[in-house]
Amino acid sequence: MSDFAELHFGGEVYKLPVVEGTENEKALDISKLRGQSGLITIDPGYKNTGSTESAITFLDGEKGILRYRGYPIEQLAEKSSFLEVAYLIIYGELPNTEELKKWEREITYHTLIHEDFKVLLEGFPSNAHPMGVLSSCVTALTAFYPDSLDPVRSKNEVRISIVRLMAKLPTLASWAYKNEIGQPLLYPKNDMDYCSSFLRMMFATPAEDFKPDPVVVAALNTLLILHADHEQNCSTSTVRIVGSSHASLYASVSAGINALWGPLHGGANQAVIEMLEAIKADGGDADKYLAKAKDKDDPFRLMGFGHRVYKNFDPRARIIKKAADDVLGKLGVNDPILDIAKKLEEAALSDPYFVERKLYPNVDFYSGIIYRALGIPTNMFTVMFALGRLPGWIGQWKEMRENNEPIGRPRQVYTGYNERNYTDLSKR
Ligand code: CMC
Repeated sequence: MSDFAELHFGGEVYKLPVVEGTENEKALDISKLRGQSGLITIDPGYKNTGSTESAITFLDGEKGILRYRGYPIEQLAEKSSFLEVAYLIIYGELPNTEELKKWEREITYHTLIHEDFKVLLEGFPSNAHPMGVLSSCVTALTAFYPDSLDPVRSKNEVRISIVRLMAKLPTLASWAYKNEIGQPLLYPKNDMDYCSSFLRMMFATPAEDFKPDPVVVAALNTLLILHADHEQNCSTSTVRIVGSSHASLYASVSAGINALWGPLHGGANQAVIEMLEAIKADGGDADKYLAKAKDKDDPFRLMGFGHRVYKNFDPRARIIKKAADDVLGKLGVNDPILDIAKKLEEAALSDPYFVERKLYPNVDFYSGIIYRALGIPTNMFTVMFALGRLPGWIGQWKEMRENNEPIGRPRQVYTGYNERNYTDLSKR
């Protein structure tokens, strides 16, 4: 034991080994503490708990650093494609030309969805939220590919499940949308790149010769890269914990989609736009809503502000803010809610409540604004986040299985009744 901390409790001294990461982050290993001392640790929301050792993503919330497999997010967002980044996250290295070609070819080859899926889609009411439809469809993939249920045995099954999921999620996402608006479903067009084919399936009609605006394609590529992984957040931890029971990749990712849906996580991008629209409809008074956000008796929170780990700035938000200005300028979009967003941002950044609590705009404050400019409907925003986060969920699931991690099973401190006797119904 090279480095350790001592815990003094009940007259005994317990040595807790220190684990150190490659960026010199230090953690106390308490995995044997209960066996030695009877003590567990408690940390609601896992605010200070490392659930795993991972080699995928490094982030430093104080310095605003985010790197995938060592590569700074700024460089990847500027220079790479989403599929290249997906390969990096899942397999650990940037692909060479051959590997990238093969990866793109395989993903293009598997984009079709079994026709029986249409029956499944028809079963949903037309106003179903596309996130619910998407997570159901991803679970349903297990029925179409039963081999994927036992991916532990064969590396090839893991590989093909990864390719299928990467390939089919854009098709499923666009079908969830088309089903909602009652338009015919479009099939993927395999001579188009990943983002262009998705945009076509979202916005074209079957008869149309659709060519997406390159500005829109580039913006989508950047947005997907920025969302591709974010270490042990709520949805990724969900994917890992579901996968730790040896549930299939599809079942685990479906659980991740549901976790992402909540407004405190990926659902924030939809909530930001709904909030900005509500402020606009209410006369555009940003100060009124700032006051509401600060009022402890009011449940209102400024959506798109604050982050569990970023306490100075969110590096993704910096890139995306610049991208938003760029895209809106190039597309000639003049969106009144953008002015409200800017007012809100300025006011919050100089307000002591937000400054003291280190609450800064996060990635979702701006992503909704770009998605809106790209013509993506508001209730599809979180689906877009899911498309981007998919490589992260896959990479983290794969790492967890390859490291043979134990089933996730936290402890608790029980605060209920002590033992008491059953009372007959007549006496209650
Ligand atoms: N508006 C007003 N007050 C806030 C906000 C906000 N958006 N966020 C945090 N606070 C206050 C909170 O009331 C608390 O104040 P006090 O110390 O007086 O009780 C303090 O700041 C700390 O908040 P917390 O809830 O303990 O912080 P957390 O780390 O548990 O929560 C968060 C992080 C992201 C859930 C939270 O900041 C939030 O609800 N933000 C709005 C939702 C949002 O934009 N989520 C997207 C996150 S980025 C996308 C992703 O990666 O998922």
